[in-house]
Amino acid sequence: MTPRMDEKLLIERFDNRLRKDVPLANLTTAKVGGSARYFISAESAAQLAADVGYLWSENIPFLVLGSGSNILVSDAGIEAVVIHNKAKLIHFDENSATPSLYAESGAILITAARQAAMRGLTGLEWATTIPGTVGGAVYGNAGAHGASMQQNLLLADILHRTKGYLSLNTEQMGYSYRSSALKREPGGAIILSARLVVEKGDTERIKALLNEFAARRKQTQPPGPSMGSTFKNPAGDSAGRIIDSLGLKGTRVGGVQVSQMHANFFINDGSATARDYRDLILLVQGIVEEKTGTRLELEIEMIGDWKEQE
Ligand code: EPU
Repeated sequence: MTPRMDEKLLIERFDNRLRKDVPLANLTTAKVGGSARYFISAESAAQLAADVGYLWSENIPFLVLGSGSNILVSDAGIEAVVIHNKAKLIHFDENSATPSLYAESGAILITAARQAAMRGLTGLEWATTIPGTVGGAVYGNAGAHGASMQQNLLLADILHRTKGYLSLNTEQMGYSYRSSALKREPGGAIILSARLVVEKGDTERIKALLNEFAARRKQTQPPGPSMGSTFKNPAGDSAGRIIDSLGLKGTRVGGVQVSQMHANFFINDGSATARDYRDLILLVQGIVEEKTGTRLELEIEMIGDWKEQE
């Protein structure tokens, strides 16, 4: 069955939740990109599941948007239904034998990690510097400071397009560096919520770690609109180090520039387009491959319609 977008059907189903032609740039951290043809917000994991189940059943194309931190939305925008994931519930099971945190997938990872720290729970300090949602971090195996989501995940509750509701453990999530089985099968499943392991810890030590990580981030990662790390690190090396070593800091296409502070961050000066980002990505990727033989892989995901820009 070919995907279709029947506006009448969407209005019937979503009624006044449905919005049309909603600009997405301000919902992304890079602050570029066009509009969503259709846009709805999901306020709970149950609502998200119901919406996705419906769109799958009608074969209507959709995309779940979290906090927009790891994506590049095309200037042409997204000819689909964008579901803004605002399912943000977080609660703690700190007194059970295995203390854990439950979060709906739209919860902000930094908020969840800070709340754990404030309760004297350790293990998620690394996540206090990562912009994004819990769902995005579980999907992309986000990480920093030598740790990543795969060390914390107990179970990810997902809705699978053909298999229905499933709870997957770390092994079943098929984690690898900045990737997962779900990321390798785009559109196959969505994350509804996750349970993360934490441990009772020493409050002073937790605070010290938070301060150390925040300071390190401030020292090494630039402020300003960007997507965070643009490329994945090749095995045993750092994309930022390689780009820097080729003298590419400061390289500019239109309104986007390779950061002077960290060469894997591409900063929007306020006037950038998604096309500027795409062109700078291709330029840097090309030079790195030509000079070093290494093909840098994108960590970010390019979404929307890019065709007429080729
Ligand atoms: N370096 C340079 N020049 C640069 C940037 C880095 O020489 O312009 C060198 C640094 O001096 C250091 C090495 O490269 O020796 C590694 O740099 P850094 O410690 O900044 O770490 P990274 O590998 O660039 C990774 C993650 C970040 C995470 C940091 C801190 C990836 C792609 N990036 O960066 O994650 O915050 O470690 O743990 O894995 C993200 O994934 O979006 C992200 C920001």
